[in-house]
Amino acid sequence: MTYKVIQWTTGFVGREAVKGILSHPELELVGAYAWSPEKDGQDVGELCGIAPLGIKATNDIDALIALGADCVCFTPHQFEGADVVCRLLEGGLNVVASNMTNFRALGDAERARVEAAAQAGGASFFGTGIFPGFANYIAANMATVSQNFSCVRFLESVDVSHYHALYNYDNLGWGQKPEPKWEQVNREVLSFYEECLDVMADMLRVPISERRFNIEFAITPEDREYFGFEMKAGTIAGQKCTWQAFTAGQAEPVIELDVCWVAGAGLEPEWPIHHGYTMKVEGNPNVETRVTFSPQVAERLEDYIDMSNTVTSMPIVSAIPTVCAAAAGIRTYADLPLITGHYVPKTES
Ligand SMILES: NC(=O)c1ccc[n+]([C@@H]2O[C@H](COP(=O)([O-])OP(=O)(O)OC[C@H]3O[C@@H](n4cnc5c(N)ncnc54)[C@H](OP(=O)(O)O)[C@@H]3O)[C@@H](O)[C@H]2O)c1
Repeated sequence: MTYKVIQWTTGFVGREAVKGILSHPELELVGAYAWSPEKDGQDVGELCGIAPLGIKATNDIDALIALGADCVCFTPHQFEGADVVCRLLEGGLNVVASNMTNFRALGDAERARVEAAAQAGGASFFGTGIFPGFANYIAANMATVSQNFSCVRFLESVDVSHYHALYNYDNLGWGQKPEPKWEQVNREVLSFYEECLDVMADMLRVPISERRFNIEFAITPEDREYFGFEMKAGTIAGQKCTWQAFTAGQAEPVIELDVCWVAGAGLEPEWPIHHGYTMKVEGNPNVETRVTFSPQVAERLEDYIDMSNTVTSMPIVSAIPTVCAAAAGIRTYADLPLITGHYVPKTES
């Protein structure tokens, strides 16, 4: 079976998603959405830095829906309301996305609207990535081997100074003075991270009674700039966030998700950075693992940059056949069957 896929934008994650779709034997790229006016009408392969594909990116949403594709790989800059996703689902297109988990953060009415659109179109929505996504799914799976586990902890710890899309952190307050408002802004902008607590709780049958969020910022003592994104002395250039889920009567969290992101060394305070994902299950036995990534070819800085977008895009791309086969509705790792990669034999060159 081959599933026809439309790629929604060709930014950093989207470009790697296109390469993943092209390399997946069950997927066929049939179209692409262009948000930037200058990308409208351009060949998708050229937009992704690969050979022309004979497929033009377009900003004509009706024309894309009319292609009769099975799925949209939805990786725009940020999630701006559910209107477009509802339109795609109602049009019968399954949607896999990098920037939304289960829509709880948008409120009951919006979540119900997305669910209704999915039911009307007989389509499903699934959000993943590296984190939110694959990494916290692995952490939840680790509890399989532990009796009476009491806590699953997860930490993403990375220096994002090598990350081309660092400019997207401006809407978290980076490059600006630390102010109390940034706590609420972060909680809202990163709400799809908080929704991972729901997915893990569903997977592990944890009856959440309370969720807590905490944030700390690190400040740069001098001006710094990465990929054209400036952070002046005294502004935010790093942050630690924690999302916790508690059950009634328990003083300690049952699920704890942490991120620690810094743009370079020498911030105040300076936190240790582990360059990857550390996952721990506290139980009998305790279980611990670290997931790190290295590029297949490590010759240029771009190889590392592409890799961070590959590990975001591939959980989304790999999920497409499963999501297309799933029952209509908002789906998560808690109710989909196991999603794996797809082996492709090497061809002689
Ligand atoms: N789950 C995870 O693990 C994970 C990890 C990393 C990123 N993400 C998420 O994945 C998404 C894509 O990240 P990215 O680094 O690929 O983003 P990006 O390159 O900065 O932007 C993606 C595309 O969005 C469109 N765009 C740009 N500015 C826009 C605006 N103001 N309003 C609407 N669309 C705009 C552009 O589309 P055109 O190409 O058509 O012009 C752009 O190429 C983000 O939402 C990010 O939060 C998730």
